[in-house]
Amino acid sequence: TKFPPGFTFGVATASHQIEGAWNVSGKSENVWDRLTHTRPELIADGTNGDIACDSYHRLHEDVEELVALGVHFYRFSLSWSRILPTGRIDYVNPDGIRYYNELLDLLAENNIEPLVTLFHWDLPQSLQDLGGWANPKMIDYFYDYSDFCFKEFGGKIKSWITFNEPYEICEDAYGDEKKAPAIDSHGVGNYLCSDTLLKAHAESYHLYNETYRPVQNGRIFISINSIWYEPSDPENSELVALAEVANQFKFGWFAHPIFTVEGGYPKVMVENIARQSEAEGLRKPRLEQFDAYWIQRIKGTSDFLGINHYTTHLITGAGVDPIAKSPSWLKDIGAVTTMEVGGDSASEWLRVVPTGFANLLRWCKISYNDPPIYITENGFSDRGDLEDYGRIKYFNDYLSEILNVINDDKVNVLGYTAWTLMDNFEWRAGFSERFGFYYVNITDPARPRTPKLSVQYYRELIDNHELPHFD
Ligand code: BGC
Repeated sequence: TKFPPGFTFGVATASHQIEGAWNVSGKSENVWDRLTHTRPELIADGTNGDIACDSYHRLHEDVEELVALGVHFYRFSLSWSRILPTGRIDYVNPDGIRYYNELLDLLAENNIEPLVTLFHWDLPQSLQDLGGWANPKMIDYFYDYSDFCFKEFGGKIKSWITFNEPYEICEDAYGDEKKAPAIDSHGVGNYLCSDTLLKAHAESYHLYNETYRPVQNGRIFISINSIWYEPSDPENSELVALAEVANQFKFGWFAHPIFTVEGGYPKVMVENIARQSEAEGLRKPRLEQFDAYWIQRIKGTSDFLGINHYTTHLITGAGVDPIAKSPSWLKDIGAVTTMEVGGDSASEWLRVVPTGFANLLRWCKISYNDPPIYITENGFSDRGDLEDYGRIKYFNDYLSEILNVINDDKVNVLGYTAWTLMDNFEWRAGFSERFGFYYVNITDPARPRTPKLSVQYYRELIDNHELPHFD
């Protein structure tokens, strides 16, 4: 079976993971530069993003790879600290403008549509010094940064993503040490972050919608990541109910305020956290509810539902997960989770469970009034095999589930983005976990890129608009 006519395929990257040139031509330090330089022991192989894939100097090669893949669009992100080194609009770095214009022009010449993410985790350190996403003032800074990018680049860009994976930004970086700035204010900082981030997203959306859309005619949305939770025993109604709670805490945390009619955080989140906070002797819940103004202001602020999806985990029981800190998001859920499901990858958290994706997509259709969906990331890690059959099988099995839900359940999926163009700086895993279509040799200063077998697979899929024959 063919994908629907008009269904588009792309590939994604993110600025900090590929660009390098961390202190070149006016770029300032971001939170990942700071983390990798001051706490290198947190990175699995001790690497960092100083040079990464050197895409800053090699964007012509990058575009050639995109052409070879035959993708319709390229999803990449802008480096805030390259464009506005102070984080504010009081100083614009001309080289940042030049770099992204060069990339946008090259894409246009090759008929590849840009899908541009404003924020993919590399916050200018100067703004982090003021508290980063835990500081409500970030709403203004993000507004100014968005405004600048819409004005400067918007003539060349028809599709914008405000935030990549709000859960990772808030929970992993402010509620844990998994991502920079590694604040680990579990159960507190993570919720301060979500409050600011959702408001910042909404303000950026309204700005685009009112000021830029009428002239630039583009679309703007948010990409939400989900580890999908399923009950370890689907016949056990308690576990079924707990999995729903976990999905509300994970996906619903950011999707419910934007994509439901009632808006605001999911009810079960508000209740659980209020109950726990009271038991902790707090005067106010750690998660503050939005007031009526903000509920309205945030609702409906995304033209599509952007979904990044990789994996499914299981819920095995009620109670406090043994790895949960106190207080914490995980403890607030009140369920025990396990990653022991499906086939493995090079990443501990990434289990291969294609049917989980189908279940997530069906759940999104029901929970969020049948939204138009773009899959903005999906991919598989290994150690860098050139004959990457594991990756090919992953894409094939996940995409066939996507086809099923499009055809059988009429889930409105409009496009698919594979993660990622080339092996790149995989955050705290460094270069030890590789997700790319192209192998990148990081011991060679020229950072040569070598196509893996999956390049052929994806190319054939895109050319024929259907899954290649594969077993
Ligand atoms: C992120 C990417 C990351 C990928 C694989 C997503 O969570 O957006 O930046 O490389 O997953 O871990």
